[in-house]
Amino acid sequence: MNDTLKPLKTMEEWKLLEINQEKLAKRPLRDLFASDAKRAEKMTIEAAGVYFDYSKHRVTEETIKLLADLAEASGLREKIEDMFTGEKINLTEGRAVLHTALRAPKNATIVVDGENVVPHVHAVLEKMEVFANKLRAAQWKGHTGKTIKNVVNIGIGGSDLGPVMAYEALKNYSLRWMTFRFVSNVDATDFAEAVQGLDPEETLFIVASKTFTTQETMANAGTARDWLLKSIKDEAAIAKHFVAVSTNAKKVSEFGIDTANMFGFWDWVGGRYSMCSAIGLSTMIAIGPDNFRKLLAGFREMDEHYRTAPFERNIPALMGLLGIWYNNFFGAQTIAVLPYEQYLKRFPAYLQQLTMESNGKRVTLDGRPVDYQTSQVYWGEPGTNGQHSFYQLIHQGTKLIPCDFIAFCKAHHKLGRHHDLLMSNVFAQAQALAFGKTAEELKAEGVHDWLIPHKTFEGDRPSTMILLDELTPAALGRLVAMYEHAVFTQGMIWQIGPFDPWGVELGKALAGRIAPELESQAETELKHDASTNALIRRYRKHRI
Ligand code: F6P
Repeated sequence: MNDTLKPLKTMEEWKLLEINQEKLAKRPLRDLFASDAKRAEKMTIEAAGVYFDYSKHRVTEETIKLLADLAEASGLREKIEDMFTGEKINLTEGRAVLHTALRAPKNATIVVDGENVVPHVHAVLEKMEVFANKLRAAQWKGHTGKTIKNVVNIGIGGSDLGPVMAYEALKNYSLRWMTFRFVSNVDATDFAEAVQGLDPEETLFIVASKTFTTQETMANAGTARDWLLKSIKDEAAIAKHFVAVSTNAKKVSEFGIDTANMFGFWDWVGGRYSMCSAIGLSTMIAIGPDNFRKLLAGFREMDEHYRTAPFERNIPALMGLLGIWYNNFFGAQTIAVLPYEQYLKRFPAYLQQLTMESNGKRVTLDGRPVDYQTSQVYWGEPGTNGQHSFYQLIHQGTKLIPCDFIAFCKAHHKLGRHHDLLMSNVFAQAQALAFGKTAEELKAEGVHDWLIPHKTFEGDRPSTMILLDELTPAALGRLVAMYEHAVFTQGMIWQIGPFDPWGVELGKALAGRIAPELESQAETELKHDASTNALIRRYRKHRI
């Protein structure tokens, strides 16, 4: 895919950006705003239901043009088409990358290996709908005839983070008589706490795993089966209390789940891009099929915008490019994602997998070590909580941390002044970061000279304001698709492969070797490094 591309840092567009950065590094945002009365207007894009204000970034129109040129020169336009049309762009796994097909309209045609995948997508969606409707109408009974009231999703990574994030984000749309819980960690505490207070006779487990071999998920699923059978002493109960979401029918059936109760998806859906697939089953049960369709429609709106808008007016492309601007030209190592919406409390965690598992790579697709930085570290917390913990460092620390502020004009809970207060905070934070407070201003306020350095805010801390109308299912879809495509933009420009996760393999393999050594009663000879050997010995001695 990259055969025709020049090494990134030798590209003309890259070099021009380096020159541009040298100029921009000396220009305060105050000046940039003062020199162009229309800056805010020019540097705001409204598309696919998102108001994207990037005017508080350390860029000029020239920078944006150069960034867009870099995207063009990197072949981004063709690569977007390759992705949307099912080319096998996941080279190291030999797969197409088609999360966009999961939200394609029923009449679309997307061919993989000679077959149109869209009818399969819609067949699974329909099967999910029938199942979700049964549960929501209290018609799905457990083995002993009791109504299923509790849904526990067991999965990890993309088979957990999407479902739990979406459930939390859309809780206000969820059926409140049902309980939804999520188990991911192999730490037994996660399972034990998730089933606290649940009646096994009223509980359904969704075992969500693309491969159906993931250690953590299989351990939790086994424990769930034991928990159920301890109470309902009949193996036949599995059929009513377990369903699976997977690409691996053989393993699902070996586990004892009837494949009639399996919801399938395909190898061209990456785990961290899977929340629109059957992995979203718990989401659909919680919010209902109609709302799930609206979620998909939101994704689709952003997909279409990304596929068609020129890069200079393309929200996900610009988002990705601005990330590259700070990462590669300003040396910023991280990005803070700061949703001013409590329902998005798991959104930063969700984004961590999406961004870092995708673009945390050190070689190009053709195997050359990169000589530039790839993915930033993504982190964050909902506002306003972060303001009273880590914002100090963003305002006055020594690190440059670009921020994504996410906010909604309408509140879900109209309680007194809360929403106006919330919004005043998000606007104020972006303003303070960008424009700071000068020594002269402090002096004019009568601040003592010795205190002035401490109270000065340098400003020039960049941020994007991502404003939407209301956190609806469609809005969540737009938001997630925006980040998915920003990640793709970056991966393509960095010439890396965003769709494989080889970096998780070594740890998995080593844990597989260490587990039996921990469990063994015999003092087997340990052949690890001295530190690991000592840790294993200490654990064996102290575990009881
Ligand atoms: O962490 C590696 C990974 O393969 C993720 O990419 C994936 O989302 C997660 O494990 C879970 O995988 P599975 O759905 O196959 O259980």
